[in-house]
Amino acid sequence: MQLSRSLTGAIFLTFALGLLLSSTTNAHNITKILAKHPEFSTFNHYLTITHLADEINRRETITVCAVDNAGMSDLLSKHLTVYAMKNVLSLHILLDYFGAKKLHQITNGTALAATMFQATGAAPGSTGFVNVTDLKGGKVGFGAEDNDGKLDATFVKSLQEIPYNISVIQISKILPSPEAEAPTPAPNELNLTSIMSKKGCKVFSDMLIATGAIDTFYDNADGGLTVFCPLDSVITDFAPKYKNLTAEKKVSLLLYHGIPVYESMPMLKSNNGLMNTLATDGANKYDFTVQNDGEVVTLKTKIVTARIVGTLIDEQPLAVYTINKVLLPRELFKAALTPAPAPAPEAEAPKDADSPTAPEPFAPDSEPEDQTASDQNGSVRSKGGILVAVVLSVWLGAFMSVVF
Ligand SMILES: *[C@@H]1O[C@H](CO)[C@@H](O)[C@H](O)[C@H]1NC(C)=O
Ligand SMILES: *[C@@H]1O[C@H](CO)[C@@H](O)[C@H](O)[C@H]1NC(C)=O
Ligand SMILES: *[C@@H]1O[C@H](CO)[C@@H](O)[C@H](O)[C@H]1NC(C)=O
Ligand SMILES: *[C@@H]1O[C@H](CO)[C@@H](O)[C@H](O)[C@H]1NC(C)=O
Ligand SMILES: *[C@@H]1O[C@H](CO)[C@@H](O)[C@H](O)[C@H]1NC(C)=O
Ligand SMILES: *[C@@H]1O[C@H](CO)[C@@H](O)[C@H](O)[C@H]1NC(C)=O
Ligand SMILES: *[C@@H]1O[C@H](CO)[C@@H](O)[C@H](O)[C@H]1NC(C)=O
Repeated sequence: MQLSRSLTGAIFLTFALGLLLSSTTNAHNITKILAKHPEFSTFNHYLTITHLADEINRRETITVCAVDNAGMSDLLSKHLTVYAMKNVLSLHILLDYFGAKKLHQITNGTALAATMFQATGAAPGSTGFVNVTDLKGGKVGFGAEDNDGKLDATFVKSLQEIPYNISVIQISKILPSPEAEAPTPAPNELNLTSIMSKKGCKVFSDMLIATGAIDTFYDNADGGLTVFCPLDSVITDFAPKYKNLTAEKKVSLLLYHGIPVYESMPMLKSNNGLMNTLATDGANKYDFTVQNDGEVVTLKTKIVTARIVGTLIDEQPLAVYTINKVLLPRELFKAALTPAPAPAPEAEAPKDADSPTAPEPFAPDSEPEDQTASDQNGSVRSKGGILVAVVLSVWLGAFMSVVF
């Protein structure tokens, strides 16, 4: 009895752990799959250097249309930048599962498949779709939608099928697409401040420019950068305290809101733990802890806990998220700490706690009053955000069903 109970417990635990692992680990590795086929080494190489391989590995229900080394030489002769190359290759990644069988039995003989090019938002309008059509004699034709209806490439063979996670197939040649091949700005040419200021983080963006801290962000944009920007309403409340910081401390505070690595949302959810920031200078300085609770990702400094409430951009190597509180590093705000004078009751929260001169009441688990207040407003705002997202997706759904 006792044994069977603990056995059941063990089985349950193993099952639960299995579930947990399967949701965080990738079931497939495109680099490994293609490595078994040396004639695709060029295609494989470019999937790696454009970081599309990571993107493929973290998705499910995907089809990779690979082109052999001879086919890739046509593309290489165009001397595209690596960013344009990324767009071209992302057009060869279909966001649906097409095994050999399904390819030959497409409903009505033709379909438009959404691609990763379309999904990244880099494709203008409705480009970024691939037309897959069953042709005479058992052939299957492929063509980019912006290619005047021409289906230049055909299905050659299946390389590996893992239903319904990933299908890797060979097609005869690269899909020509004027849109995908168009010159693309490198990520560090993306205007970080205009992305932020257009989408609710204007105050933060202006602070980055005014202090010159923005240069450090741009310096990191190529190698990987994640920015957490406090929403305007939140940072406005914080402005009096900010004004009182020295120029040097202002820069430290701003740099504290960036980390020198690219972290997608799934990565943030699975890589909980201590995170160095752009302000980090030596061990245990200016770091914070990332922790997720289900779908919610929080950033904990020793003084506040902020929550990620939105995504402005998430495209390797750059991610920008909005947060509902200013991240206060203990290095800057702990100084104002006075050893708790008396067991000050929460209710007695003095009015001048809001004034910039008042010392920060510091306790690891209680938050300064104004931060709590802005949190409440933050929740209201994030509900508004969800509403907007729902309305948008309903609208998008309606739009898509009209288009198709
Ligand atoms: C498909 O992916 C899921 C989740 O990543 C995984 O649990 C499952 O084992 C995969 N299926 C196969 C056949 O590999
Ligand atoms: C995928 O496979 C390649 C080659 O075997 C390996 O270098 C890489 O680390 C793997 N990636 C992941 C995410 O496991
Ligand atoms: C197939 O064609 C029929 C008739 O034209 C149409 O009603 C149906 O929606 C099409 N199915 C798909 C999946 O396109
Ligand atoms: C795909 O292209 C072919 C040939 O240009 C065309 O007849 C067909 O309607 C297209 N399919 C879709 C779904 O647009
Ligand atoms: C970003 O855009 C703003 C306004 O549109 C402009 O003033 C600024 O110079 C731009 N920055 C970069 C790095 O292009
Ligand atoms: C600014 O902060 C310092 C301590 O860092 C404090 O002595 C001073 O009174 C503050 N001034 C204002 C205007 O808040
Ligand atoms: C929260 O929002 C309310 C109403 O919009 C406003 O009156 C209040 O000042 C805001 N508080 C903070 C701390 O932003």
